[in-house]
Order: sequence, then C-alpha cells, then structure tokens
Amino acid sequence: MGTQTHQMVVAEHIEVLNSLLQTAVSEGKQVGFAPTMGALHPGHTSLIERASKECDLVVSSIFVNPTQFNQTSDLTHYPRTLKEDLALLEACGCDIAFVPSVPEIYPAGPVKAHWDFGLLSSTLEGHFRPGHFDGVLTVVKRLFEIVAPHKAFFGEKDFQQLAHIRKMVEAEHMDIRIISCETIREPDGLAMSSRNLRLSHAERKTALCISRVLREMKDRTQEFDPPALEQWGRAEFQSTPGIRLEYLEVTDGRTFAPVPDWHDSEYPVILCAAYVGEVRLIDNLVIRQPMD
Ligand code: PAJ
Repeated sequence: MGTQTHQMVVAEHIEVLNSLLQTAVSEGKQVGFAPTMGALHPGHTSLIERASKECDLVVSSIFVNPTQFNQTSDLTHYPRTLKEDLALLEACGCDIAFVPSVPEIYPAGPVKAHWDFGLLSSTLEGHFRPGHFDGVLTVVKRLFEIVAPHKAFFGEKDFQQLAHIRKMVEAEHMDIRIISCETIREPDGLAMSSRNLRLSHAERKTALCISRVLREMKDRTQEFDPPALEQWGRAEFQSTPGIRLEYLEVTDGRTFAPVPDWHDSEYPVILCAAYVGEVRLIDNLVIRQPMD
C-alpha cells in the first residue's frame, strides 16, 4: 500500500464498504482503522501512516458525530473540509475513506448508549463534558462493528478518550487491538488540533502556555510532589493573561485516580484543559511510562 499506483476508494454506504472489506479479508489482509471527524491535520495523518505500516488495508472514516458534542453550536461550527480531507487521506496511504451520513450511522436517530467506567468516566473530561464519552463510545462501537478492523489507531492527544476506547473494547469483548499514537505538535510545541484554526494570531501565542507549562512541570518532578507540582502549574496559568484553566492534574494513566505521591503511580500523566478566548483546548504529557 502507499505505492505510486495507490488509489483510494471513497465509500458513503455500509454495503459498499462491506463488499470491499470482505474481499480484502478473504485474501487474508490485516485491516487497520483510524476514525476521524475530518478537518484533517498531521496529527490525523500520522495515525493513517502508522496504520499503513502495520496493516495491509487502511480504512479511515470522516464523520462529525452529533452525539458527542455538548453544545449544538460546537457541532454546527465544526470545520468541514471534505475535499481537502480526501486528498490528504489518499496522499498518506489510506485505501478506503468511509464518509457516511448521519442516518447511515444512526438509522434510529442519534441516540447514545451509556457506559460507566468509574473514575475514568467521571473525572476531568468526564466531569466537564458530561455525556461526551458516551457519544464517542457509541459511534466508535458502531464504526468498529461496521469496519471490524484487526487494529484501530487513536491519538494520545485525547488521552482519556483512548482509555475509554480500551475499556469499551474490553467490556464488549471486541477482538480489536487498540494502538496509541503519540501526539503530533507544531514546531513550537502546541498540540495539533482542528480547533487551533479558530484561534486569532494573539490567541495562538497565548495557547502556547499549555504545552510550555506541561513541559516545565515534567522538568520539575524531582523538585515537587504531585499536588505541589499542580499548584506550581496552576499559578503559571493564573499569571498568563487570556487563558482560563479548567483543570490541570497529575493523574494515574490507568485508573485516573489522583496521585498524592510519585510512589503512588507507575504511570503518572499530567492532563490539562484550558480556554483561550472561546476555544477549549486539551493537552497532556506522560511523566513516566508504565513498565509493561
Ligand atoms: P478527531 O478529533 O477528528 O480525532 C481523530 C483521531 O486523531 C483521534 O484518535 C485523535 O486522538 C487523533 N488526533 C487528533 N489530534 C492529534 C494530534 N495532534 N496528534 C496525534 N493524534 C491526534 O477524536 C475524534 O475525532 C472523535 O472523538 C472520534 C474518535 C473520531 C469519534 O467520533
């Protein structure tokens, strides 16, 4: 795949996708899948590039999922750049772009199921965006059932989303390997996001506070225990005009429990959400990877 003769197929309907997939699977091909909501940037294409290295056939979906938005204005303003997205997908080695309509995904209307994974579901994003992960998991489950990939690729940028997807796959006994892919950043450190397009020139500079503080916190883990480190980081945000912190916490990357002391977690992660003007941005930094 990804050769010069590479040609991507665009499928709008499940039946078309199914027949393409059936042929591939009957030939013994490994199917990789990377779901997206479009407005693609190098963060997204890195998932597809990774998938095309590890799999024989790469499917990506573009679907702006109505059940995962907390505000309807966020849904209606979500950038839609299908033509550019399809060109990018083809260029980075995607074999099939699945671009379904809302009724194709939600034939009975956009209703979402509910999952409760304890702290993971109730803390941080779960707390500030109630129902968001139910919407994400509803659509990802549906897409997994349609595509039935061997491997699915997700960005660590959405750290808590990735943890939810792993839990859902386990809870629903789905035979899919979830592959996490590192966060792609702008040269100055800002995590790539389709929301960055909504920042003014000045806001774009202010937003740098997030990745800077995360990096500087990681450099100070010898100096402070986790609660003191959080305090240090929050003070940095407070002294930066134009940015409003929603949360900044050191959390265990598996349980999402707070980390009172560095010895309490083998997988501490700093997770952050902040508003720059109207735009809500999230980012995170793993302090220490788990042993296994
Ligand atoms: P979306 O925000 O379009 O992101 C699609 C995938 O790209 C997710 O796995 C996300 O973590 C990854 N991604 C985004 N920015 C990234 C970056 N800077 N570096 C690396 N990966 C990045 O996440 C969603 O869509 C939706 O919730 C979805 C899973 C498609 C369900 O609707």
